[in-house]
Amino acid sequence: MIPKTHRRVVLARRPAEEVAETDFRIEEAPVPAPGPREVLVRVIYLSLDPYMRGRMRDAASYAPPVGIGDVMTGGTVGEVVQSNHPGFRVGDIVEDRLGWQEYALGPGPALRWVDPSLAPISTANGVLGMPGMTAYFGLYEVGQPRAGETVVVSAASGAVGQIVGQLAKMAGCRAVGIAGGPRKCAFVRDTLGFDDCIDYKAQGDLAAAVKAACPGGVDVYFDNVGGVVSDAVFLNLNVWARVALCGSISQYNTTEPGPRLLGAFVGKRVTMRGFIVWDFSGKYGPALRQMGEWVRTGRITYKEDIVEGIENAPRAFIGLLRGDNFGKLQVKLGPDPSAR
Ligand SMILES: NC(=O)c1ccc[n+]([C@@H]2O[C@H](COP(=O)([O-])OP(=O)(O)OC[C@H]3O[C@@H](n4cnc5c(N)ncnc54)[C@H](OP(=O)(O)O)[C@@H]3O)[C@@H](O)[C@H]2O)c1
Repeated sequence: MIPKTHRRVVLARRPAEEVAETDFRIEEAPVPAPGPREVLVRVIYLSLDPYMRGRMRDAASYAPPVGIGDVMTGGTVGEVVQSNHPGFRVGDIVEDRLGWQEYALGPGPALRWVDPSLAPISTANGVLGMPGMTAYFGLYEVGQPRAGETVVVSAASGAVGQIVGQLAKMAGCRAVGIAGGPRKCAFVRDTLGFDDCIDYKAQGDLAAAVKAACPGGVDVYFDNVGGVVSDAVFLNLNVWARVALCGSISQYNTTEPGPRLLGAFVGKRVTMRGFIVWDFSGKYGPALRQMGEWVRTGRITYKEDIVEGIENAPRAFIGLLRGDNFGKLQVKLGPDPSAR
């Protein structure tokens, strides 16, 4: 039964620094009716990702900002509940970018069919979706790890980081994570199988802690956080090291990025390359098949952090920006027909 109205989260105002719940507004709106060649999708899982902080800012970026009063942008996994499109049947599970809302018209800008028999459908927002592809291409194509090298990844228990370390191990590398708190570090070491994990919140001298965990230095740094954590890794880079600049979450709530210790990059001939996962979209097909196989056979494990109810999305997103999430953060908006 399709309801007459649904809930959606819009951007109410642009935060200057820290995001507040009042920067969002939860609205009730009519459920739209699909026109010709359109489908109505019931969103089941909404992906919450750090990049959304950038969309709240009216500044030049690789993607346009969300307008005031517009539905917050976001990746979604949902079920087709009405179809006027010959290519879709009611019951199809689709991944798309339909935003923070319970129902939306599709197909949207990032449509992909999801096979519920492969893995839980929420993984299409995680290990078998954008974060998984970010880890895969950011490590293998940008980081270029070689067997025997040491790979360090920050935000190591998060959606991207947890996959990076496992892929590094599969490439024959020593994998060292950096994460906040003993619980996350234990998970990174004991469940994900990293060789070591540094709790950056417990360390006085973080650079010394990186040195102790990486006695042979760091060959590849997969940078998810920036700021002081990355400075500590930079001090330990080897000659010819590679830095895959994936994100700088520690800087997202500030307008004044902190100092960075890049001086030694010259003498050490370090290569530092920023990337956006879309750069590799032409190669997603084989990579997703490979990752799907690794997930199915248990070679790659993953952790999701699922919050219930669209009304909790703003609070969960604010928590993501300060490390409250433990694993790939998603919001479950309604029943998952594929869950057993
Ligand atoms: N380039 C691309 O195409 C691309 C694509 C996807 C994601 N990204 C970037 O990748 C990074 C990780 O994203 P994700 O989806 O995997 O998020 P996530 O790791 O699941 O969640 C964010 C984590 O960042 C850590 N964090 C938050 N504030 C921090 C701070 N001040 N200092 C250090 N760590 C902090 C927290 O973990 P702790 O508790 O361990 O601190 C938090 O759990 C982000 O920077 C994101 O923007 C880039």
